[in-house]
Amino acid sequence: MLDVTDLHAYYGKSHILQGVNLNIKEGEIVALLGRNGVGRSTTCKAVMGEVPPKGSVKFKGQEIAGLKAFEVANLGIGYVPENRDIFPGLTTRQNLILGLKPGQKDGAGRWSMQNMFDMFSNLKERADVEASVLSGGEQQMLTMCRTLMGDPDLIMIDEPTEGLSPQMTQKVAELLQEIAKRGISTLLVEQKLAIALDIAHRVYVMGHGQVVFEGTPQELRERDDVRKEWLEV
Ligand SMILES: Nc1ncnc2c1ncn2[C@@H]1O[C@H](COP(=O)(O)OP(=O)(O)OP(=O)(O)O)[C@@H](O)[C@H]1O
Ligand SMILES: [Mg+2]
Repeated sequence: MLDVTDLHAYYGKSHILQGVNLNIKEGEIVALLGRNGVGRSTTCKAVMGEVPPKGSVKFKGQEIAGLKAFEVANLGIGYVPENRDIFPGLTTRQNLILGLKPGQKDGAGRWSMQNMFDMFSNLKERADVEASVLSGGEQQMLTMCRTLMGDPDLIMIDEPTEGLSPQMTQKVAELLQEIAKRGISTLLVEQKLAIALDIAHRVYVMGHGQVVFEGTPQELRERDDVRKEWLEV
């Protein structure tokens, strides 16, 4: 589904991504782990075309490095950035509708507004109030649901559980599993190792702008050295 090869990215003169290699298969949840500042978010932005990528990014076999973010989105990659970028002055329902692609009708894709309301009663109860009054966790849900409304084949989600209560974190984990069940691939950037190990099929650990470990959750559990050197603070 996604094949990233020798990906480099720069902010000005800072060489942030220094040859990232990773791939995600259909329906796979892949976690991207690493300490603060190693380039996890930059990896998502480079795939999305929000930061100019150098190297190869192939999506369903097509080279997408060099495309604009909206073009990448239209090809079927959804992106939920770290900051919950809802439209605060619009209602929950209006926010969800904005997730549809141009010309796409609600319910035409794998997800409908009703689906979202069935899964998340909080959103249903607040369907017609301004999104600005939602809690942080509800806004996080809304951002994820809005992205899914566009029916992506791959979704990249950057730290979805940050600052959430254990109960909301559980809800996010359930949504991630539901996404995989529907055959959608996920790149999950996550700080909480326990969640990542619980729900990911495969794990990449980043350090200094490169992938320093690749394996299954079980393999990472067995690698104290990798966790000590690259993950624990
Ligand atoms: N817009 C920017 N301009 C300049 N430098 C940036 C910019 N965004 C990020 N950086 C730098 O690039 C490096 C990688 O940032 P990135 O956001 O990818 O980290 P991360 O792994 O997502 O970590 P975290 O989310 O915990 O900050 C950091 O050193 C950061 O300071
Ligand atoms: Mg980040």
